[in-house]
Amino acid sequence: MRAFSRAAGGPMKIAVAKEIDPSEPRVAASPDTVKKFKALGAEIAVEPGAGLKSGLPDSEFTAVGATVSTDALKDADIIIKVKRPEASELAQYKRGALVIAIMDPYGNDAALKAMADAGVSAFAMELMPRITRAQVMDVLSSQANLAGYRAVIEGAEAFGRAFPMMMTAAGTVPAAKVFVMGVGVAGLQAIATARRLGAIVTATDVRPATKEQVESLGAKFLAVEDEEFKNAQTAGGYAKEMSKEYQAKQAALTAEHIKKQDIVITTALIPGRPAPKLVSGEMVKSMKPGSVLVDLAVERGGNVEGAKPGEVVDLDGIKIVGYTNVAGRVAASASSLYARNLFSFIETMVDKKEKKLAVNWDDELVKATALTKDGAVIHPNFQPKV
Ligand code: NAI
Repeated sequence: MRAFSRAAGGPMKIAVAKEIDPSEPRVAASPDTVKKFKALGAEIAVEPGAGLKSGLPDSEFTAVGATVSTDALKDADIIIKVKRPEASELAQYKRGALVIAIMDPYGNDAALKAMADAGVSAFAMELMPRITRAQVMDVLSSQANLAGYRAVIEGAEAFGRAFPMMMTAAGTVPAAKVFVMGVGVAGLQAIATARRLGAIVTATDVRPATKEQVESLGAKFLAVEDEEFKNAQTAGGYAKEMSKEYQAKQAALTAEHIKKQDIVITTALIPGRPAPKLVSGEMVKSMKPGSVLVDLAVERGGNVEGAKPGEVVDLDGIKIVGYTNVAGRVAASASSLYARNLFSFIETMVDKKEKKLAVNWDDELVKATALTKDGAVIHPNFQPKV
């Protein structure tokens, strides 16, 4: 049976929340998506100042027909956010509201229960399946792409030398050598960005499919290409956790290569597991003074030994950059893409003829992302332990 739920009477009300976490500069809507929501028949209310840190003053939202009000959340049928709501925020939402955000659900059972208890239907954007129909809703890709770009900018900023080779009357500046470890969405963008800045780029990954991608971007691929490597990609396109033997061979190859690099950018992740440790303290020490490592995996345990979340660690002139929320450091772009991801998902929950909310709870996108509904945690991966 297909189960639908409809909002009773009146137009759909969508609220854009202001993030309460001071370290979160992104916002869940843009003038572009406000216009699109309005075309779907929705009323949009924005909390004052919600877009400020993304370069969007309230006037940008009112200009396209949104209202800006401290009461924005009250009576909203859908609340869109960047981060999972905290208890103080949940208290303001009406029961039955849909709350859509980047929910960070793993290991946060108490927070999921709080959302269930508040009676809201919570959706985690990062659980969106990576199928063709949902590409436009893929927040992991939209944000990782910007993080990969920004990682290179952070690396360049912390590096005391130029990236491109420069032949000047006063002498030649050599091109910087950049090594990218982990070539998913972030890694590919890091390679492209470093190349644009004129660096000599090498890259590694455990998935064989990445070799061609690296080479097509004009970088050199470096990996232990044994039998295990040939089978390291899951059906879903993600990396598997590699054997101890493989990791040892990979470490030996990396150790030799890293000594000669100026900048190392690490982005390696394995879904549902801690980030693989790819750069040991020894390897860091083997680098030249002035070298920089940027660890994009730092929030998931880190690829680089000694990386600290939110810090730039200086080890005798070698810097390990461990910024968190790196996509948020390009807030305006990150918000605009995230807002589009959200709109594309919400659009699938609207009956366009009736201009009403009509969630199809049997839709695979809804099933994959819905965490809570009617007072319970409903997602199979997050069932309370009995
Ligand atoms: P991710 O963020 O999970 O991991 C980043 C990279 O780290 C991956 O390339 C992974 O292979 C690599 N890695 C893991 N362990 C490693 C190790 N020990 N040494 C070196 N590298 C290691 O990956 P992301 O960016 O989410 O992309 C995963 C795949 O999904 C890619 O093939 C990407 O093209 C694909 N994808 C598909 C989409 C779609 O069909 N809609 C959308 C986005 C990505």
